[in-house]
Amino acid sequence: MCGIFGYIGQDSAPSIIHKGLKRLEYRGYDSWGISIIDKDKIRTIKDVGHLPEEIAQKKLFSTIGIGHTRWATHGGITVTNAHPHFSKDRSFVIAQNGIVENYLELKEELESKEYEFETNVDTEVIVKLVEEGIKKGINLRNSLISAFKQLEGRNTVIVLDLKDKRILAIRNGSPLILGIKKDEIFLASDPLAFNQFTTEIVEVNNGELIEIEKGKFKIFDIDNNKYIDRESKIEKLLDIDIDKGKYAHYMLKEIVQQQHTILKATEYTEKELKPLIKQLNNAENIYTIGAGTAGFSADQIAYYLRKISKKSAISIKSYETESYLDLITSKDVVIVLSQSGETADTLEAIELFKEKGAYIASVINMPGSTLSRISDIFFMSKAGSEICVASTKVFTSQISFGYLISKTLIGEFNEAKKELSSLSSNLESYFTKERFKDIENIANKLVNKEHFFILGKGQNFHIAQEGALKIKEISYKHFEGFAAGELKHGVIALIEKGSPVISIISNDMNRKDMISATYEVKARGALTIGIGDMDFENEKCFDYFIDVAKTEELKAISNVIPFQLISYFLAKALGNNIDKPRNLAKSVTVK
Ligand code: G6P
Repeated sequence: MCGIFGYIGQDSAPSIIHKGLKRLEYRGYDSWGISIIDKDKIRTIKDVGHLPEEIAQKKLFSTIGIGHTRWATHGGITVTNAHPHFSKDRSFVIAQNGIVENYLELKEELESKEYEFETNVDTEVIVKLVEEGIKKGINLRNSLISAFKQLEGRNTVIVLDLKDKRILAIRNGSPLILGIKKDEIFLASDPLAFNQFTTEIVEVNNGELIEIEKGKFKIFDIDNNKYIDRESKIEKLLDIDIDKGKYAHYMLKEIVQQQHTILKATEYTEKELKPLIKQLNNAENIYTIGAGTAGFSADQIAYYLRKISKKSAISIKSYETESYLDLITSKDVVIVLSQSGETADTLEAIELFKEKGAYIASVINMPGSTLSRISDIFFMSKAGSEICVASTKVFTSQISFGYLISKTLIGEFNEAKKELSSLSSNLESYFTKERFKDIENIANKLVNKEHFFILGKGQNFHIAQEGALKIKEISYKHFEGFAAGELKHGVIALIEKGSPVISIISNDMNRKDMISATYEVKARGALTIGIGDMDFENEKCFDYFIDVAKTEELKAISNVIPFQLISYFLAKALGNNIDKPRNLAKSVTVK
């Protein structure tokens, strides 16, 4: 979702901001804007749609500016609504990430004071509130603080100030991070935006104001205006590789990387896991939580904790915590799954659970994220940057970590490591051109179908759900994942001649049920596809079969991979934008 970028240094700001915004594209956006200070003027270019590969830089020279990618919430996708927004006297511009939840009340109040609005975006309210402060004789910096304090919701604002040739920013909820280089400062929603320029970062916390002037930054606490010495806390970023390599799309690259990332995510030693294991052993209740794909990771990890570790673990969706809140106590452990560490629903849930005193253990992929700072303990997924909006490698990294934890709880840390490394080498030989061709051929047969059903049971139930999510995200086709047991209770009414049904089948206690379920839909004319262990390749109930990489205990991982590949090839056949599907954002930083 919305991305913020700011730069002050020696180089061409328009070009650096353009590069920074390009790297924020993966978060999802529908319009963009860049403002720079050119001599005695702020110049702004903005447009709807995607940022062009080049911007007309000839007319723009500057070493200071800000940029924004907007994901529309309040107000349609128009050039006027795109950020940054000018003050009336054109002495400053503001861009914002987040949603001003009390926008209407503030707008009405300002309108009653004769302020006129040109747009229907909430950001304009912030501009007017700052102008109101200035009108009262308060300087821009302090007017910004006082305006910001009136905003409800998770917001981060960035201001380009013409008079003092500086950038100001305040953070509350929506992510913000500083990049530091000799005489240059970068400010962005995430470090991917500037890591081609610098790998030194400074974290920014909620309730902090950043002032950047002439290549130097200062941080203040907005509650008491006190200077915070953060310069001493410069950190180094982990390697971030955003090269597509030999792949046409990030998605395919990220799918293939899973052979390594499941090992990276679990390269922790038993000693490093010990604090979490101790907490889990002493916990009264264990909860797992996440949203979207991370929500299905949470489901799968709770499954492992129950099935392998015999712990009573409950999975919660980040946006449905209401009924659990009164149950959570300081004796509980919450395992949080989040690629970005910035998902608004997840952060809000964790803040509430923290108030109840629960121990928060997070599994995060993005360095420097908010979640890492509010957790009692966090583990990095180390999957490297995941650029495709549809999550693939981070999902399997998260569940690999959950599996390792579950096995460690029963004293089988070494066995888990062995299983992970055996799957990793089996995956290496799984990703062949021939296999890709076979899966592409099956995907091509599905192009004209609209409604699809995926059935799973036991260790494959949540994989049916994640598989369906993966395919609908990029193909825009209607896929639904169900527990096979649900079939007779309603789903079967939807099956007609030619309905595609995918059954996930492993050589486990549920295999017979999966075969019967598949025969039941076949008898009603369904086109049946099996995904699973090779042993079932010749089962008569399947019209097509996709075998998976061999593993004893990590079938959830090997079984999800064909779904990722079907999703990729189906979207390719349909001509969809694979890495940036319509309407979706990678990092859902607003509620
Ligand atoms: C969005 C993304 C998903 C992701 C979910 C949660 O919906 O498109 O890929 O699973 O947000 O994000 P998180 O960063 O918390 O894992």
